[in-house]
Order: sequence, then C-alpha cells, then structure tokens
Amino acid sequence: MTNFKIILITLLSVELANGAKILAVFPSDVKSHFVLGKVVLTELANRGHEITFFSQFSLREKHKNISEIRLAGVKESLAEKGLEEENHLTARNERSKINSLTHLINRATALVDYTLDYPVLQDTLQKKDEYDLLIIDMYLTDALLGLAYYLDIPSVVLCSSGTNKWANEMVGNPHNPSYNPNQFLGFTDKMSIKQRLINSLVSAFEKITYNYMYLPAQEMVYRRVFKAYLPDKNLPPLINIIHNVSLVLVNTHPIFQYPRPIVPNMVQVGGLHINSDKSETIAAEIFDYIQAAPDGVIYISLGSQVKSHDLPSDQISAFVKVFKSYIGKMRIIWKWENATLIDHPYNVIVGPTVPQQAILAHQNVKLFITNGGLMSLMEAVYFEKPVIVLPIFGDQDFNGAQVESNGYGRVLSLQNITEDSIQDAINEILTNQNYLNNVKRLSKLFKDNPINPLDYAVYSIEYV
Ligand SMILES: *[C@@H]1O[C@H](CO)[C@@H](O)[C@H](O)[C@H]1NC(C)=O
Ligand SMILES: *[C@@H]1O[C@H](CO)[C@@H](O)[C@H](O)[C@H]1NC(C)=O
Ligand SMILES: *[C@@H]1O[C@H](CO)[C@@H](O)[C@H](O)[C@H]1NC(C)=O
Ligand SMILES: *[C@@H]1O[C@H](CO)[C@@H](O)[C@H](O)[C@H]1NC(C)=O
Repeated sequence: MTNFKIILITLLSVELANGAKILAVFPSDVKSHFVLGKVVLTELANRGHEITFFSQFSLREKHKNISEIRLAGVKESLAEKGLEEENHLTARNERSKINSLTHLINRATALVDYTLDYPVLQDTLQKKDEYDLLIIDMYLTDALLGLAYYLDIPSVVLCSSGTNKWANEMVGNPHNPSYNPNQFLGFTDKMSIKQRLINSLVSAFEKITYNYMYLPAQEMVYRRVFKAYLPDKNLPPLINIIHNVSLVLVNTHPIFQYPRPIVPNMVQVGGLHINSDKSETIAAEIFDYIQAAPDGVIYISLGSQVKSHDLPSDQISAFVKVFKSYIGKMRIIWKWENATLIDHPYNVIVGPTVPQQAILAHQNVKLFITNGGLMSLMEAVYFEKPVIVLPIFGDQDFNGAQVESNGYGRVLSLQNITEDSIQDAINEILTNQNYLNNVKRLSKLFKDNPINPLDYAVYSIEYV
C-alpha cells in the first residue's frame, strides 16, 4: 500500500517533460546482470535521460548521455579477503547449497562495501550530487539503497532473475512454499510431499539467513558509510529503506514463471534484452558455415560464468566424440574460451565470444546446448530452438526443471555426462518433433505481449 502511494507521490513531483538524472549502480561481476542493465539504461539514455553508470564492465560503444564509471580492482579486493568467485563446476560437487549461499552473501557484502567506498562514488556522496532516481542491480547488495535515502530520491531495482526472497522482500510479494518452488532447487510448482517439505525448509532457511545474516551484514555497511555523511541524523533501519523501493523490474515472463501472485510494483519485463544489440551479427564465413551444414547446426555454450574448458576432460572428450560422429551431417558451434580443443573434429568451430542471438536466429540451427541461464533460455524460446540444459549453479536447476515441464528440452545432469547420455539426449530432441512443436508454441506466447518488454520497463521507470 505505502509503496503505491509513494509511486503516486513521486509521479506528481517529477517533471515529465525533462530528462531525469539517473544514478545507476551495478557492481556485480556477472556479465548477464550488466547486459540487462546496459539494455535498459541505453534505452533511457536514447530518450534523453542522463545516466551515470557504475559497473565492472564497459559499454562497447560510448553513449553521449551515459557517463560510465568502471569499478576497478574489485576482483583483487575480494580475493584479498578470501572471497574469490567460486568455481561453479567444482563447487557443485564439493559444496552444499547452504555453503554456497553463505559464500554469496559474504561476497556480496564485501562487494557493496568496496563499491560504496569507491572514490568516485564517495565524491558523489561528499558533494551530494543532484540525482532524480537511483537504479540498482539485485545482487544481494541492498546497502546500496542507502544512496536513495541519502540523496532523497526514489529507487528502482532491476532483478536479472525471476522473483526471489530478496526481490520479494522489497515490495512485499508473497512466497508460499507449498506451491512456489524455490529458485535454488530443481522443483516445479507440482511438488511431491517430500519436495514440498524440502522446499519449505529451504525457504525457512532463506528467511533465517536473510534476517540474521544477510540483513545485519548489509546494515553494518550501510551504517558505516552513511553515518559518516549524516552524523546528526538517526539513520532509519536498512529494512525500512528496502521496503521503500518504488519498483522492482524482474527479468521473467509468465511462461518462465509458475503461476504466483505478484504485487503491482513488481513488473515482469523478461525478454527485453532480445534483439536489443543491432550491432550483433554473424561474420560472413560463419553464416556460410551454418548455411552449408546438411542436417543443421548444434550450438553449445555454458554462458559467461563457466568456461567449457573447465569441464572435466573426460566430459569434454565425450562431447568431442559425439560431435565427431556427426561429421558429414551436422556442424557444431561451441563457445570455447581456450585456444585449443584437443582432438578437434573438423565439423566443430570454436570461439571465445559468439554472437549468440544471431546464431540462434538462424533457421539451420537445430539445437542449443546451454547451462540454462534465464537469458539464454529466453533467447532459445524466442528463436524457437529446443534445448539441452546442463545446470551448473544458481537458478539453473530450477530453469532446467521448467524446461522439462514445458516440454521443449531435456536436462543432462553434470554427474552423468557420457558419450551415451549426450548422444541419447541429442537424438531424442532431433528426432522427436514434440520438442520443436512445444518451443514454437511457447515462442508465440512469449512474444504475445500487450507492450514490448523494453518499452514497459522504460515506461515503468519513467512513471517512478
Ligand atoms: C541525449 O539526450 C538528449 C536530450 O538531453 C537527446 O536530445 C539526445 O537525442 C540524446 N542522445 C542520444 C544519442 O540519444
Ligand atoms: C521513501 O522514499 C521517498 C521517495 O521515494 C522519500 O521521500 C522517503 O523519505 C523515503 N523514506 C525512507 C524511510 O527512506
Ligand atoms: C587452456 O587450457 C590449458 C590446458 O587445460 C591451460 O593450461 C590453459 O591455461 C588454458 N588457457 C586459457 C587461456 O584458459
Ligand atoms: C544417465 O544417462 C543415461 C543415458 O541417457 C540414462 O539412461 C540414465 O538414466 C542417466 N542416469 C542418471 C543418474 O541420470
């Protein structure tokens, strides 16, 4: 209720005719978070808003209305504190989910600490620069919201996943573990009694870590940083500022989200990043290579966080052997970050960066083997490609379970990657038309929106 009033009040107080000055802070080292932010902020900049964009990555093309501030030295600073990014592949086998979650919380706290102390941001605090709006990334870095309180501006949060505990808390979105599967588990909305029990326990655990570990850690950073600038003021508890967020944009869509209640200031904008990068095209020789494959092309990528060459070598050679068996029939494009692929079959091309959307858009591409990141799955559905999902971390088990329940792909468990299981999964998908039919049906639903998701995101932000 109060959030709604706040939206209305702020709407009345913003002069809609002028471009706004927006402070955007995206400290995450996950590339997909940056990409999502970049798409939204670039569109805002195109419409005449003036953006200051803090992030670890760089925009490939400069924009007149965006001043970029690169956060340097994050990696080194976190490493000094023993908080390196986990190797998601080995962590999956060696670490419990609980252990991974606490690591993520500690790491995100150190990250927000570093970001708020970053000299350029400290300058902003000292001079109390004038801004109209704060936009932050949802990456367990809620202490950043202190910026909104200090600068006395409304805040918008961009969440690169579907709804989760941290985003729900901001807007008071309900979570009922009896039918809302937790993002860190691989369940669907139809859970057995045992699964519901596990789902409830994990949700309870999340709540406990939120209240007794996450929040106090963020609160400490928030108090340390903002007390210095407001020594005479009684800082409100961080949780009040978290509850004061005006709008949360979640990167999801009804077909990627099981039926669940969503409050009105949480807005689903999944798919906004698709076709946003007009400069992304396939080089002519790769286009010809795809075009000339007699039985089509398989595209494989494990996303930006995990490198394919970090897979155990027996698994890599299992893939290589299977791909080799398609010589003369299918061709393979592999996002492969290393210079060499041992025993490289000549129907496979590898490259460290690939224009993923352009490849998926090509009609001769028949199958996408993916880690099951949400943005990749959205692209697969958009371009009507069935998938094989190799879930590795985060919400990927959850996404994999959803792919199977929607019938447009199969999950291949990391514990069970062998020549047989890969061959099995590929054959199943290429020979059984149901996968293709299902993804085509979903694609229609995904594109059937009353308003383009990027326009909806920008509209909602301008509304605030
Ligand atoms: C930048 O903003 C101005 C208005 O402040 C607008 O006229 C212009 O088109 C924007 N520039 C770009 C490259 O979109
Ligand atoms: C909540 O946000 C509004 C602006 O959106 C601001 O005026 C108000 O002071 C904020 N309250 C707290 C407790 O941060
Ligand atoms: C490529 O792989 C080899 C052997 O696995 C490794 O020693 C090397 O560091 C890798 N190179 C890159 C750029 O990752
Ligand atoms: C491993 O893969 C094979 C072949 O696809 C399959 O029959 C088997 O059920 C899988 N095992 C597990 C534990 O998933």
